[in-house]
Amino acid sequence: MISIPSKALLYSIVVTVFLLSGTTEILAEQNLYADHTDRSKVQLGSKVYVQHCAVCHGARLEGEPNWTKRKASGALPAPPHDPSGHTWHHSDEILFRLTKFGVKIFAGPNYITEMPAYEGVLSDEEILAVLAFIKSTWPEEILEAQRRMSQ
Ligand code: HEC
Repeated sequence: MISIPSKALLYSIVVTVFLLSGTTEILAEQNLYADHTDRSKVQLGSKVYVQHCAVCHGARLEGEPNWTKRKASGALPAPPHDPSGHTWHHSDEILFRLTKFGVKIFAGPNYITEMPAYEGVLSDEEILAVLAFIKSTWPEEILEAQRRMSQ
């Protein structure tokens, strides 16, 4: 029977192609949906949040006090990620790029900011997971508003 080994070969080709197409390069260009309904992603995201984001954005996503007023340094305090902030004004893709590459890719190289870029620190999956966690805390009307603004 040659059908079994050839099936196995076909399978390994399919898996290889899948793995190659799943590189971070491709992921960064497409499929930047942070799925807040995926419980394992949200769970991973909540760990990432506590470890990397809570120090500035707050344990309850509440942000720093007076977050709309720039500090003496010119930098803004960390905004909340809860509905009182404006994280939900941005599409998943923008939030992903902002977290991965930093605010300067949108605001320009001279912009003073304390928000780190997480490229090389967090994987694309971890970034999408932390965004999924943030979204999982939003009520349905905020999720709906984000969806509308993302179109
Ligand atoms: C050292 C403090 C600090 C840490 C740590 C930090 N941030 Fe931020 N973040 C900021 C600041 C400050 C801003 C405001 C951006 C600016 O300077 O204009 C910001 C802005 C953002 C925004 C844009 C929000 C908006 O309303 O436009 C997102 C999204 C974000 N951060 C996500 C994250 C995530 C996810 C993490 C953890 C992986 C993280 N941040 C960790 C300080 C921080």
